[in-house]
Amino acid sequence: MRTPIIAGNWKMNKTASEARAFFSEFIKLIKDVKDIEIIIAPPFTALSAANDAVKDTIIKISVQDMFWEEKGAFTGEVSPIMIKDAGCSHCIIGHSERRQYFGDTDEAVNKKIKAALKFGLVPIFCIGENLKEREAHKTMKVIETQLQGGLTGLSENDMDKIILAYEPVWAIGTGKTATPAQAQEVHKFIRDYIRKKSGDKIADGMRILYGGSVTPENINGLMAEDDIDGALVGGASLKPDSFAGIARFA
Ligand code: 13P
Repeated sequence: MRTPIIAGNWKMNKTASEARAFFSEFIKLIKDVKDIEIIIAPPFTALSAANDAVKDTIIKISVQDMFWEEKGAFTGEVSPIMIKDAGCSHCIIGHSERRQYFGDTDEAVNKKIKAALKFGLVPIFCIGENLKEREAHKTMKVIETQLQGGLTGLSENDMDKIILAYEPVWAIGTGKTATPAQAQEVHKFIRDYIRKKSGDKIADGMRILYGGSVTPENINGLMAEDDIDGALVGGASLKPDSFAGIARFA
């Protein structure tokens, strides 16, 4: 069986002291939670505080992006080695906000995924269509192109380590969640794509998270679907009680 993952993406929110305050509350609320993975992605400047706070808990710390080079003259960038050194285990790659505002292409996403794997970080690879694409019935085509681009040249061993996140852009931060059936349709398409590319074992083991206005109220309906293995949560991961409510899904 696939172990569910509940991941929080804090985006550009929280200082180090706000992160400490979050964890001191949140850790109490999930003390008895078992059999799931919990991951939180704070901004770079709060990583050290976050990693200190989650010592001796089940919570893992992720970054929200990284560059693919190891070091060098790349002003403003952070490398996979630095992220490992900061105590992180995961890296969100290809988030739609990176693609939309910072020009991350499928090719850049592919380089970042390969670099993460090379340095032992687990990529949380994000894909998803925007509203225009959905209304033009191009969802599956867009998903397929993003999967093809992002996963080019990965070995089976690499594929086995990746986490996927389907985040329809029109559902992010809008309060407009995909219905469980809408999400399941795309998740199934993604798993079928992985099955064709890498075979049954990898496809059946691949965790595919849903992201887009996930709340404690809608998590159970989403998790009841066969191919939804967890959630990547934005807004509702900023408050200890709402994120704990999601992590404690029935
Ligand atoms: P919201 O949960 O705020 O819609 O954000 C989703 C997201 O982008 C997580 O990466």
